[in-house]
Amino acid sequence: MDSLAHKDQQYIWHPFTPYTEVSKVIPLSHAQGVYLYTAEGREILDAISSWWVNLHGHSHPHIAQSLATQALKLEHVIFAGFTHEPAVTLAERLLAILPDNQEKIFYSDNGSTACEVGIKMAFQYWHNQGIRKPRIVALDGGYHGDTFGAMSVGDRSPFSAPFDPYLFEVYHLPFPTCSQSPCCGASQTHHQDCARAAQVIAEFETLAATGEVGAFIYEPLIQGASGMRMYSPEILDKLLGIAARYDIITIADEVMTGFGRTGKLFASEYCTLKPDILCLSKGLTGGTLALGVTSCTGRIFEAFKAAELAKTFFHGHSFTANPLACAAANASLDLLLTANCQRDIERISAKQAAFAQTMRQHPAIRQARHFGTIVALEIDTDRETSYFNEARSWLYDYFLSKDILLRPLGNVLYVLPPYIITNEELERIYRVIGQLLDERFGA
Ligand SMILES: Cc1ncc(COP(=O)(O)O)c(C=O)c1O
Repeated sequence: MDSLAHKDQQYIWHPFTPYTEVSKVIPLSHAQGVYLYTAEGREILDAISSWWVNLHGHSHPHIAQSLATQALKLEHVIFAGFTHEPAVTLAERLLAILPDNQEKIFYSDNGSTACEVGIKMAFQYWHNQGIRKPRIVALDGGYHGDTFGAMSVGDRSPFSAPFDPYLFEVYHLPFPTCSQSPCCGASQTHHQDCARAAQVIAEFETLAATGEVGAFIYEPLIQGASGMRMYSPEILDKLLGIAARYDIITIADEVMTGFGRTGKLFASEYCTLKPDILCLSKGLTGGTLALGVTSCTGRIFEAFKAAELAKTFFHGHSFTANPLACAAANASLDLLLTANCQRDIERISAKQAAFAQTMRQHPAIRQARHFGTIVALEIDTDRETSYFNEARSWLYDYFLSKDILLRPLGNVLYVLPPYIITNEELERIYRVIGQLLDERFGA
């Protein structure tokens, strides 16, 4: 073991890493484009954009240059009482591309805090008006982060079990599609006969009619951490329609889906109805620095505009709107909004769709799902589909042995690449997935 790996093991506690796996941590020397380079000289293809954040490849020169320039100008300043150009420019640019009902940008540090802020905004929106709407509704299987509010609205699972007694009460609606293929989960077309969706919609209506529901939080159209589970815009529009009728604040968690992942800039664009609050992070800085954004409508913001101090939104972080992170986000937007990048997103989406289609014929695949630049394959093992399906471990090892980083969610293998990946690189990933399935399950 080299000394970096050894010292890492001695001093560092890694996230989402069972301790038996710590010895597997791989020291990197650098990363460029879609490749991670190990200290030993291996070149590993990053097929998951390093936890879904990296849009334009690693160490992109435009982002790096913007960071260096900003670091020599203003590296950080308290964001209460001061402002700066990177934060204002970014807010203006985001509002120009977000759903057109969004009017204000609140900065925080990551995806969990972006959601935490969204939840707190919704709660305080009602509180400031003296209206009692204490209940919050979320979807089963949702993942919104690891802080306490985000955990509360997320799925209750072995992840949250040690904290369950301390989480606030949330009504979790069942995931609104059946798991049959073909049905709404396998394509973006709502299966008219999906009894499950109809049941969930009716359940939400009953809850909403109590007048007690103040907010509804959801990952629009695709739940990431629970296994890239998909549901249709038609179903989401029905849920949003109920929310609108009963004056329920809607919070779209676009932390994973934002910035082109689903083919459009934001997944909310597939729906007719727009959210009141929208949470962003991950791709926001092109995967370079931690930054969270919670946007909201003018109506939400109005409830906080008052002379009384108690109506202030008392939330903030030391590094709120860090100028370096905002500069990285502006640089990432420069790249994302080019015709080239938009063409890449379309190209990758078409390749992923075609791959999902072929995989649907494979006997080892329970369901092949595709949405925009994401493809997800539910591998048929003798266990049920779950994050805790042990296929995760051997799948991960297999792909690493082929110098490809794929980090399955249990038995759900997914490819979520940086937008600069070439067709040849995608085909290499598909080839290796095909080999694995044939070797392990026979073709
Ligand atoms: C939809 C969604 N929301 C929130 C989060 C939490 O983001 P972070 O890990 O940056 O706190 C994630 C992370 O995977 C996510 O996928």
